[in-house]
Amino acid sequence: MEVLRSVVVLLHLVGFAVTFGAWVAEAAARRFTTTRVMDYGLLVSLLTGLALAAPWPAGIALNYPKIGVKLVILIVLGGVLGMGNARQRRTGHPVPRPLFAAVGVLALAAAAIAVVW
Ligand code: HEM
Repeated sequence: MEVLRSVVVLLHLVGFAVTFGAWVAEAAARRFTTTRVMDYGLLVSLLTGLALAAPWPAGIALNYPKIGVKLVILIVLGGVLGMGNARQRRTGHPVPRPLFAAVGVLALAAAAIAVVW
């Protein structure tokens, strides 16, 4: 069971890496667009995060306020990505720069809270 939990934590980290990595790649290429890859990473983070939020194996202590804050950040991030994608489809242009910045800042903030809190 411990090994399985570690594998789910690893997948949870992959979700963050995919979202944040896709964001860094867009910034480095100076495209500043939100992408489907970011959505997929976020979905992986959400599904694995929910699996980890259940107290298994028995006896494990979880920090629920921390988990709740990360869930809120993830929902806001999903909203920002949804807005960005819709806007890009409508206008054919990259999202406004502050909206693009918000994606990276929120993803990194969630990871920082996970590690530091
Ligand atoms: C973008 C959003 C998220 C990021 C970047 C993120 C990042 C991380 C990271 C880096 C860890 C490993 C460090 C640690 O164990 O404390 C972790 C663990 C964890 N995350 Fe997240 N997370 C996110 C969203 C979520 C969500 C939405 C949930 C639940 C609804 C969640 C639940 C958990 C749980 C329960 C652990 C602890 C695993 C364990 O120690 O067994 N996470 N997260």
